[in-house]
Amino acid sequence: MFPPLLAGAALVMSLGLVRFSLDYQVPTNSTKTDLSELRAELVTEFHGAYSEEAQPSGQIKEISLVAKEGEIQIFEERKTKIWGYNGRVPGLEIRIKIGDKLKINFSNQLSEETTIHFHGVRVPNKMDGVPGLNQDPIAPGASFVYEFVPKDAGTFWFHPHVNSSEQMERGLYGSIVVEDDFTKQYSQDLVWMIDDWRIQEDYQIAPYFNNPHDTAHSGRWGNVITVNGKIASEQIIIQPGERVLLRMINSSNARVYQLSFGKLKAQALSVDGMYVKSGFDPNGFELAPGNRIDIDLQIPLDTDIQEFFISDNFNGANNLLGKVVVSGEKVKTPDFSPPFNDQIPDWQEASDVITDKEYVFDIRMAESRGGMMGMMGALEWTINDKSYPDYEPFELKYKQFNKIKLTNKSYQLHPIHIHGLFFKVLSRNGKESQENFFRDTVLMHSQETIEIGIIPLDKGSWANHCHILEHAEAGMLTVINVN
Ligand code: C2O
Ligand code: CU
Repeated sequence: MFPPLLAGAALVMSLGLVRFSLDYQVPTNSTKTDLSELRAELVTEFHGAYSEEAQPSGQIKEISLVAKEGEIQIFEERKTKIWGYNGRVPGLEIRIKIGDKLKINFSNQLSEETTIHFHGVRVPNKMDGVPGLNQDPIAPGASFVYEFVPKDAGTFWFHPHVNSSEQMERGLYGSIVVEDDFTKQYSQDLVWMIDDWRIQEDYQIAPYFNNPHDTAHSGRWGNVITVNGKIASEQIIIQPGERVLLRMINSSNARVYQLSFGKLKAQALSVDGMYVKSGFDPNGFELAPGNRIDIDLQIPLDTDIQEFFISDNFNGANNLLGKVVVSGEKVKTPDFSPPFNDQIPDWQEASDVITDKEYVFDIRMAESRGGMMGMMGALEWTINDKSYPDYEPFELKYKQFNKIKLTNKSYQLHPIHIHGLFFKVLSRNGKESQENFFRDTVLMHSQETIEIGIIPLDKGSWANHCHILEHAEAGMLTVINVN
């Protein structure tokens, strides 16, 4: 009578696989076999990297905000009709001190429903602005009060989460800067909201939103790029020796900007509103829709250059975004160091942890979406073979290390944004990533695979979608539950 184990061994032996069999039974690496232990270590390494709770100061900043039609002067020839917060583009630049409560009395004076989402701000779930998930859509003529205490100091922005492809392209967006004591040391603290528009010959915004061509490709790319609502004429006047803070936000529907600072001395301080672990050279950084980057700019005291150019070189383009003009008295360069976040974990051992969830992004012919003009069948974007409003929510473990693998099966770009959470890129196409910062949006290139690590600190149901708005409208949206 053979005990079953020996019977197995005999079989292996007879196949000539004895060594393999023995190695298998005596693991050589006996220290890290318990993956839950390794996960616990990753959580310990993360501890304190960003705050769990807001620290309310008791102060309230109350503002009123109206979504309505307006006109702006992008072109000399003629005004362009827009939809904007308070009728302007960009809408209000909201500034608030960390710890203060922001109370927004919002009224919808558009002819259609809307909501506001505060991109990157960790808000209570019911303030997050996604209809069907966080709140009901706000009807034309109706109002809503948004109220929260931001937990992080940094650069954020706000925009609708209803018919986003059209509402944002028409100009509905604004910035939120949450200030801390550090940023006061700069003599200038500037926000650049970078957008591109598809403008017709009559200087008006081209209709045909969400058309099959834009949907099937990398979304709606415009023919005019503006910074703060003006064509590449945004100028910063800096004195020799001066040091300024430039906060860049990509509010475009689909366009990616690859930043070039020319001969300027530039250092990245924050990405997506969160301080980085150590400053880095922002040249070449891909600012995808939704992304922010904060830049420390310094003009050398003895410079003989009078104009510096900041531009976009994505895909070989050369688009001027703005310029820095050196003028005025020489000033002594202030000496302070940014509050880099040395708590940001390296998470090097995360590669040993098993993936908790895989998201596969793809495109297919849509059976349920009507084709446009019968010319081309409608397409839809899918996440794991589901296209929103059909989706399968994923549960992320609160305060635990979660590893997610994102796979782009398509040839298009997808800036993937997760509401309410910040994550770190662990690897790209199997190669360990050197990024030493958190993000809320990561750009996936054609057929790329990205692994990310997240420790959720905020409970609720959070939207997770492509920030190419035409892709999101065509189904590329799902939900993450943290409980
Ligand atoms: Cu700017 Cu749902 O995001
Ligand atoms: Cu996409």
